[in-house]
Amino acid sequence: MSDVALESFRAELERLRAEAAAALAAARDAAAVEAARVEFAGARSGRLKALQKSLGGLAAADKPAGGRLFNEAKAAVGDLLVAAQARLGAAAEVGPPPVDVTLPGAPVALGHLHPITQTIRRVQEIMGRLGFESVDGPEVEDQWHNFEALAIPAEHPARDPLDNFYLAVARGADPLLLRSQTSTVQIRVMEARKPPLRIVSLGRVYRPDTADATHYPMFHQVEGLLVEPGTTMAHLKSVLRLFASSFLGGDVHVRFRPSFFPFTEPSVEVDMEWGGRWVEMGGAGMVDPAVLEAVGYDPREVSGFAFGLGVERIAARRYGVADIRDFYRNDVRFLRQF
Ligand code: FA5
Repeated sequence: MSDVALESFRAELERLRAEAAAALAAARDAAAVEAARVEFAGARSGRLKALQKSLGGLAAADKPAGGRLFNEAKAAVGDLLVAAQARLGAAAEVGPPPVDVTLPGAPVALGHLHPITQTIRRVQEIMGRLGFESVDGPEVEDQWHNFEALAIPAEHPARDPLDNFYLAVARGADPLLLRSQTSTVQIRVMEARKPPLRIVSLGRVYRPDTADATHYPMFHQVEGLLVEPGTTMAHLKSVLRLFASSFLGGDVHVRFRPSFFPFTEPSVEVDMEWGGRWVEMGGAGMVDPAVLEAVGYDPREVSGFAFGLGVERIAARRYGVADIRDFYRNDVRFLRQF
């Protein structure tokens, strides 16, 4: 076999490189790139493979230089292929879809806060103006904060498993529960701070109540607590009346009906009259001295009042909603009215 001249081998390689570059530049889709790959770099019958075979025909002294030239050309074709694949692959993935500029634009739908969230913010704002700081408490509670510190002893019916969502815990451990009232936060705040205090706490509470127009198994309460020397029921009524008038607007009447809560003495139900109708909004009273003592306060030095109102109830009243279940049906036609 006659020696293949090194120069003609070099020229062959250069022609192959130029043709590969042209073919890949002209490729408009992945199939065209693949066809070029097979033609130039195909493992069995690609043109590079054929030239590699002709390396063997070079003069022995030219073989190292020929091998170098071949490797350079092979690497260059490989780079061209990678670049072409990246170009067409990337275009297929992130390229903009064809746009018909004559079509009307898609309107951007602007959402807004849920009416219960709006109500919570509004209550925080009004109570903030009256000097009540907003605080949070956990929704999973222990028996001490949900019951005992609130003077609800073990045998009290309010602790019945049928009236609460207890969590499964290890045998022998004190069961935790989803809090049934926000009064838990009264205890948490009093344990952590010294009087005087004015706080409100708004959050979710849970009871296994059957859902109806005024009940839901998950609902929200607003808890208010004020502890200062010389606090009386008159202060309680003034704060509730100011709150109700600001929240509902206009002249709202507040009525106290005698009631019972283990952690307040005296205790009352709070009704509000607005638009000629009385509605029960929650419970309230003077913090029981036993509760003050349980958190280390001296009942001879300070007294306090507390109240707890249903957020869904006051929201329903304000927005004229007849059934609180509507707040949780997730029907945008209902929600977008607020
Ligand atoms: C309490 O939960 C007391 N912690 C309130 C309290 C706080 C009294 C501080 C004294 C001092 P009651 O169980 O009545 O009380 O609930 C208060 C309010 O929560 C009710 O008046 C009602 O507005 C609302 N409520 C109760 N159950 C539900 C329910 N299933 N769905 C929606 N709202 C409810």
